[in-house]
Amino acid sequence: MFKQKYNPEINPIESKPIRSKDNFLIFGSPAIEDSEISEVVESLKSGWLGTGPKVAQFEESFKNYKGASYAIAVNSCTAALHLSMLAADLKPSDEVITSPMTFCATVNAVIHANLTPVLADIDPVTMNIDPEQIEKKITSKTRGILPVHLAGRPCNMDAIMDIAKKHNLIVIEDCAHAIETEYHGKKVGTFGDFGCFSFYVTKNIVTGEGGMILTRNKEHAARIKRLAMHGLSSNAWKRFSDEGYKHYFVVECGFKYNMIDLQAAIGIHQLKRIDAYWDRREQIWQRYNKAFAGLPIVLPAEPEPDTRHAYHLYTILIDERKCGINRDYFLKSVTAHNIGIGVHYLSIPEHPYYQKTFGWHPEEYPNAMRIGRQTVSLPISAKLTDEDVEDAIKTVQKVVESTA
Ligand SMILES: Cc1ncc(COP(=O)(O)O)c(C=O)c1O
Repeated sequence: MFKQKYNPEINPIESKPIRSKDNFLIFGSPAIEDSEISEVVESLKSGWLGTGPKVAQFEESFKNYKGASYAIAVNSCTAALHLSMLAADLKPSDEVITSPMTFCATVNAVIHANLTPVLADIDPVTMNIDPEQIEKKITSKTRGILPVHLAGRPCNMDAIMDIAKKHNLIVIEDCAHAIETEYHGKKVGTFGDFGCFSFYVTKNIVTGEGGMILTRNKEHAARIKRLAMHGLSSNAWKRFSDEGYKHYFVVECGFKYNMIDLQAAIGIHQLKRIDAYWDRREQIWQRYNKAFAGLPIVLPAEPEPDTRHAYHLYTILIDERKCGINRDYFLKSVTAHNIGIGVHYLSIPEHPYYQKTFGWHPEEYPNAMRIGRQTVSLPISAKLTDEDVEDAIKTVQKVVESTA
């Protein structure tokens, strides 16, 4: 059935890769422009590198962009998820239902908040958590739902919010991929009690490392701000400002999760370009769809009506029975052409820690297991030139056509 060349155990030998090694296409490399570089330099020269006016400005701009009540900047989305669950004041070992098709940070944050993660399988087409599966996992200990808007595609928030209302559950949205995402005219991250965002280097806009929490509850916002800064009394970041030294008081045992001005300096300018970057990624998405239409691979589903996809990841599925090669051979072959690609994600129950700790098995979440074993993310950063995109296309075509 397979051509001789296919041997999943060996690295593919390419006489001439599509790109040269010194021109390796880095997956998810961000577009960085002069204005953020100048703003960072200005911060450095000002001597105020830490949490300060630029963080406040970034919070204000992000809050306005999302139409939220409160926005608190932190140093990662992982911290955002952790603090949201602490602010929700759940009891130790209360259960939070989330997706098995996510980055480990989502589940780890539940564990760090002393809560018990429970997985509900995904819909095989949208790859997002399936509301019917959520219903099946509800017990007397369930207190929260943590939907992940995977790849930038919104979860079925109507159904999720109905379940939350019916069972009196908090909702924490993992919007790490979904800054621009909208569902039925509303921006994600504003449906639930908390919306958590990432500005990690590969995300749609970046601050290097960084995160943001949205909430509509004033007390939650104040608690999160405090917890992100060691549990110090309010405005402790100003203690070294030009207003003179201010005493602070520790009012609870918090964390060191604050964003700093050096990071916000980048974010302020990235946010101004968010729509231009989205347009570019949409163009690349459409170009890929057109170029791959005839190949024996599964392309991402079309965005659902009345939604806005954030086009964070362009994920294809490599099904060995249709394509003639398996996913890992595809990864090796594309990388041999010096095109960087990613996997988002192996399903959570594939990892030994969770198997050991919770007794989870991949087979119990069959949709997440299959997709996790077949999925590949192609480069879709706004930084890509047309030539980069064409190189990625030629590589995928060559790898699939030479082995199918
Ligand atoms: C779905 C998801 N959730 C959470 C995170 C954690 O984000 P951060 O790296 O900002 O902590 C990531 C990061 O890649 C992610 O992809």
